[in-house]
Amino acid sequence: MSDAAGRLRQELAALLVEGGALTDPGWRRAVEVVPRERFLGEAVFHQDEGMAGDEWRPLLRSSLSEEEWLELAYSDQTWVTQVDGIPAEAAGHTVAGSPTSSSTMPSLVVRMLERAGIGDAEKVLEIGTGTGYSTALLCERLGDGLVTSVEYDRHAAARARQALEDTGHAPTLVTGDGLAGHDGNVEYDRLIATCSVRYIPMAWMEQVRDGGTITAPLSGWLPGHALAHLTLAEDGTASGRFLPDGVSFMPARPHARPPRSSFVIGLGDERESVIDPNVLDDATGRFVAQLGAPSAEKLGLGDEVILLDVATGSQASTRRRGEGWVVRQHGPLRLWDGVEDAVVTWLGAGGPPRSGFGLTVTRTGQRVWLGDPEGPGWSLPV
Ligand SMILES: C[S@@+](CC[C@H](N)C(=O)[O-])C[C@H]1O[C@@H](n2cnc3c(N)ncnc32)[C@H](O)[C@@H]1O
Repeated sequence: MSDAAGRLRQELAALLVEGGALTDPGWRRAVEVVPRERFLGEAVFHQDEGMAGDEWRPLLRSSLSEEEWLELAYSDQTWVTQVDGIPAEAAGHTVAGSPTSSSTMPSLVVRMLERAGIGDAEKVLEIGTGTGYSTALLCERLGDGLVTSVEYDRHAAARARQALEDTGHAPTLVTGDGLAGHDGNVEYDRLIATCSVRYIPMAWMEQVRDGGTITAPLSGWLPGHALAHLTLAEDGTASGRFLPDGVSFMPARPHARPPRSSFVIGLGDERESVIDPNVLDDATGRFVAQLGAPSAEKLGLGDEVILLDVATGSQASTRRRGEGWVVRQHGPLRLWDGVEDAVVTWLGAGGPPRSGFGLTVTRTGQRVWLGDPEGPGWSLPV
């Protein structure tokens, strides 16, 4: 361990405390000892100013001085390590695509760990090992024997395994689909996911003990994000309010948006829109809209929203007309009717933030509710 790395770790921990993400002395100690630079491998992806939103340039460790690499590792930033399955060290040149693995920004990692309420001596199942950095923090805090982590991507899993071994950590590591959890070490006190899901997988419900918790980013294809924090009850259900944090995580691979084929925009009957389509540009508005059209993806911006449902071919498209807006809808699902209904209900309740909503999971369905479990609700597409 270089003195410079140790000093930067201390500074990072102090920054996270100052920003309010880190309050627990146990996690602070973990941040102060886990060498994040060892989990970033030999390269990360970078976006230079002026690059398109989906363009990523590989930044090689060998092109930087040791000091520059450490500065990068201990900045409070997410470092993307893989784009569309291409690892940064293998890219060779700028690639276009979506991040498929990363080292999440440390403030978000520790905020999630704190929000999950993980305490000493608790058994944790982590979904999405990624680089292994958050897994190492868990090991430092809880001890290797209490930590299980699942990673879907074989390359990322192998890299994380090596980095964890090299830094002296030996949790249970599983390469596979985290949506199936890992029943080898059941029952868990806490499950924490660092990839987003469209609904809570039943395997998680079975592997977490009664009174235990599931902390997972919920998302869809609009995409609308919210961080669920559920407590398991004795009757096999789970329920809880969404946390106030505005987090967005890459989708769990089997829950990612399906590929779309070609389509013609603007089909269907036209009518006036009851709501301003710009509401979908707001993070909470988009989350609410997604409740009303849970399998739709969104294209377009501002007044000109396009919603597409790949499975049914349904579509909705809005545009400005005079002082208001019109919408055209086509296909078996009236996507905009669902969105309007959800947005009107939400605005009618005063437009609360995402923590004004909650989620209840039972064997027969998953319902997002507004206000309290008996309030207005929307089913998730399980
Ligand atoms: C944001 S990264 C994880 C960050 C990581 N915790 C860290 O601190 O470096 C999300 C990870 O979830 C993984 N992932 C996606 N779908 C998954 C699934 N179904 N099961 C397990 N891991 C999954 C991705 O491959 C990716 O590595």
